[in-house]
Amino acid sequence: MQSTSTSLSPLSTGLARATAGLNLCHENASEVWHQRPPLDFLQIHPEHLIQEEGGTYRDQLDDLRHAYPIVLHGFGLSLGSCAPLDQDYLQLVKQVLKEHPEAFFSDHVSWSSLSHHHFHDLLPLVMNDETLDYMVERIDQAQELIGQPILLENISSYMRFRDSTYDEPSFINALTDRTGAYVLMDVNNLWANAVNFGENPLSQLMVYRQSSVRGYHLAGCTCKQVGNGEVFIDYHGEAVHEPVWELYKEALSHFGPWPTLLEWENNVPKLERTLQEVSRIRRCLHDLSVTPEAT
Ligand SMILES: [Fe+2]
Repeated sequence: MQSTSTSLSPLSTGLARATAGLNLCHENASEVWHQRPPLDFLQIHPEHLIQEEGGTYRDQLDDLRHAYPIVLHGFGLSLGSCAPLDQDYLQLVKQVLKEHPEAFFSDHVSWSSLSHHHFHDLLPLVMNDETLDYMVERIDQAQELIGQPILLENISSYMRFRDSTYDEPSFINALTDRTGAYVLMDVNNLWANAVNFGENPLSQLMVYRQSSVRGYHLAGCTCKQVGNGEVFIDYHGEAVHEPVWELYKEALSHFGPWPTLLEWENNVPKLERTLQEVSRIRRCLHDLSVTPEAT
């Protein structure tokens, strides 16, 4: 099946490459609003623009999205579900992108709704040719509607399907190849999946096509004891783990210094602590930006 999105212009945003940002959430909005810390960008969820029709959080969100460069990150588009794509949602994304030429829009390679029921979780896909064709069609529709390529994020998942014939990196490579979409590389998700399934995180990372990555997410996962073993759960409730920082540095040197976001929305500490993590991202980006490979 031929993608219709091959006619889309390449992604071009006003957001500088080596930038470090923070996700805006209910737990940190007041501190960010009061303190106005030196962040390169904020990540905003379109769902919050729809669900929060008024109140303090919405007021702060509206103020802050005009005070900082933003990126838009969805968790409810449900690209992999069988229900029609939400046209109103995509129109809103298109409108916000028009107001913010620096922004890009991202969502996940997953599904999260069935008819009108939303599971509030990002569920894994059966990664085979049938799903691939379906996802290409859906991504094409979304991109045509918002008028620019989207970024696809790799999810954390704790099960795999026997009927899958692709691993996640190869599946996402095929998606980006056929649709012109890019990758939002969640380094923590990739690391946790690889460790949970007994794979080598760096080998998994290197499967991704070098030219497809346009952004990174970093977050802290939580280690849970299950029977005699450990499982890393993508909870966004603690600092980024050291092996994830190491993998991030490998990603930077291979894919380049793209905008990087810290996600921390559970057990949220004082903003000062979160900003230390953002500063560490900035140092990693800067260390890489001065090497010849990244120029
Ligand atoms: Fe993420």
